[in-house]
Amino acid sequence: MTDKEIVEVSEAEIAAHWQEEEYFHPSMEFIAQANMTDGGLYGRFSLEDFPGCYKEYADLLSWDEYWHTLLDTSDAPCWRWFVGGVLNASYNCVDRHLAKYKNKAAILYVPEPEAEPHVALTYQELYVRVNETAALLRDFVGVKAGDRVTLHMPMVPELPITMLACARLGVIHSEVFGGFSGKSCGERIADSGSRVLITVDGYYRSGKLLDHKVKADEAVEVAEEEGQEVEKVLVWRRYPGRYVSEAPMKEGRDFFVEDVLQDFRGSRVAPVRMPAEAPLFLMYTSGTTGRPKGCQHNTGGYLAYVTGTSKYVQDIQPEDVYWCLADIGWITGHSYIVYGPLALAATSVMYEGVPTYPDAGRPWRIAERLNVNIFHTAPTTIRMLRKAGPEEPQKYDYQFKHMTTVGEPIEPEVWRWYYHFVGKGKAVIVDTWWQTETGGFLCSTMPAIHPMKPGSAGPGMPGIHPVIYDEAGKEIEAGTGKAGNICIQNPWPGGFETIWGDRERYVSTYYEKYCRDPKSKDWRDWPYFTGDAAMQGKDGYYRILGRVDDVINVAGHRLGTKELESACLVVPEVAEAAVVPVKDEIKGRMPDIYVSLKPKQKASRKVEQAVVRAIETEIGKIARPKHVYVVPDMPKTRSGKIMRRVLAAISDGRDIGDVTTLANPEIVEEIRTLVQGE
Ligand code: WTA
Repeated sequence: MTDKEIVEVSEAEIAAHWQEEEYFHPSMEFIAQANMTDGGLYGRFSLEDFPGCYKEYADLLSWDEYWHTLLDTSDAPCWRWFVGGVLNASYNCVDRHLAKYKNKAAILYVPEPEAEPHVALTYQELYVRVNETAALLRDFVGVKAGDRVTLHMPMVPELPITMLACARLGVIHSEVFGGFSGKSCGERIADSGSRVLITVDGYYRSGKLLDHKVKADEAVEVAEEEGQEVEKVLVWRRYPGRYVSEAPMKEGRDFFVEDVLQDFRGSRVAPVRMPAEAPLFLMYTSGTTGRPKGCQHNTGGYLAYVTGTSKYVQDIQPEDVYWCLADIGWITGHSYIVYGPLALAATSVMYEGVPTYPDAGRPWRIAERLNVNIFHTAPTTIRMLRKAGPEEPQKYDYQFKHMTTVGEPIEPEVWRWYYHFVGKGKAVIVDTWWQTETGGFLCSTMPAIHPMKPGSAGPGMPGIHPVIYDEAGKEIEAGTGKAGNICIQNPWPGGFETIWGDRERYVSTYYEKYCRDPKSKDWRDWPYFTGDAAMQGKDGYYRILGRVDDVINVAGHRLGTKELESACLVVPEVAEAAVVPVKDEIKGRMPDIYVSLKPKQKASRKVEQAVVRAIETEIGKIARPKHVYVVPDMPKTRSGKIMRRVLAAISDGRDIGDVTTLANPEIVEEIRTLVQGE
């Protein structure tokens, strides 16, 4: 079989082999206190009532001027929400809470070194710091509404402060994840056309104080090579007054923020009245190919959407202590650490470092001490904590009412550990499926309304109407056991408006595939292509199988890598699994399986055989792997996603490419030797 034939087979409908999982129900206690218990919500948010339903989300915000047009489709598929409306995001996240909550903690900051005290930033304190920083940006840096500013900041309180200061001025912030290299940052500076870079001298990860300012120098250089001059670099210090970086400060270009702030003590800046459709921020997503894409999120629609979903799906209430363990450098942090929670006057916990530092009990000690009752993290972190300390959570006296998983499909085995051990059998779990591009959740159960099903995200969110198409654009019905490309039939306020500076790529990447008429101004002609494969159960729940490009085609059967990986985790010794396609004379492709084991477990023939048996019983003989490799660890991105691309290259004996941006590049050579020999 040639490659071409394999691709064509994969274009057909796809069989999936998941087994149905049992339901878990929310407790009466949770339901009794929940923000959203009205099942009628889904009726109000039906496709017939679209887009009128979203007025409910807009009304959670404070508008300087109310909007007149809910959805403007005149530049389809660049959707504009709440047109005519005027508001300010920083006002909505800070000022409007002062009357009632000025002494309440907005942000509880937990430094990684356990001996360092926590920092509680009240809404009043946040207000003062955002204002002074905004004054500095306006008068010292000279930026104004519509300008872009790049932030390359790790998890320090100054990050949300800086974001909100930008928002106060209508300046578009573009935060680059702190773990990214100076080069990646420089490319993003150039793409966004930022004249200013805001950074931090250093921060803690795994007990080490990392030098971060050095990256700024590289970033500026790279940006300049790409034709973008950076006039000012503002440097926050991890310890005010004490510079922890080795990199020199460049005269006339680099400034310590706290020093300059002396001139702005007591400054107040009126929130700039911004049109709802003005960009609030850019968030770059990096695919495996091509330049990173700057997703442009707009003020009114985005803020309304993350506020609504934080309220109803995260169930955040003023008395709660909410902790999302993501990094603000990713969309999850923007939407569900900063903008959504703060718009609701929540107390949002921020943790500087690594969840397993100094040991796997750290998150639970933090939860116990701060009395966290809403917890939000990703499967990769859950697997890591399960691997490092499966019994740990029980040793600590905390009680969550609500937990989230986001970012990848979660294996039912891992889901059950999260439920029974971390949630102690009492917390509800929402599995929220969404993307950088979508601003907020697309699918999830509504925690007090729907039962949970391990491994399934749940139905579409209110007002989100998913549909699964086959390659020809024919709808795949629920309950048929077939998977396909999951799309969203309608726009929603949280969706990005375009790719910064590249509308064409926006249209071709996300809309071209299923567009019914490229000239149409009717949203019905523009289903949004997510790039994920999914199937829908009879109960209407969606099960996300991973990226469309993560599928393995074995003799014409399209297998989701995730279902194979999930089957591996049934083997008790296995902590993590990654599956990649490897060329095979006969079948075209076969799965190669990489597993890492839980602590104290040893690699053995027995484990390998158990993995093969698990695949055979969970999925079928068709999916039997070519090899099973037991490896010490998986190659991972800084955000914790397993780099299957690297493993696939090793399996196929191809060039591995650049791995320097991985979180653990050293593991690659170790795995290569194991697989290919010396
Ligand atoms: C995957 C993260 C299964 C999916 C918010 C998507 C998920 C990509 C889930 C976006 C989930 C995210 N279940 N898969 N609950 N959440 N994904 O842009 O493949 O970092 O397309 O946004 O992650 O990743 P991104």
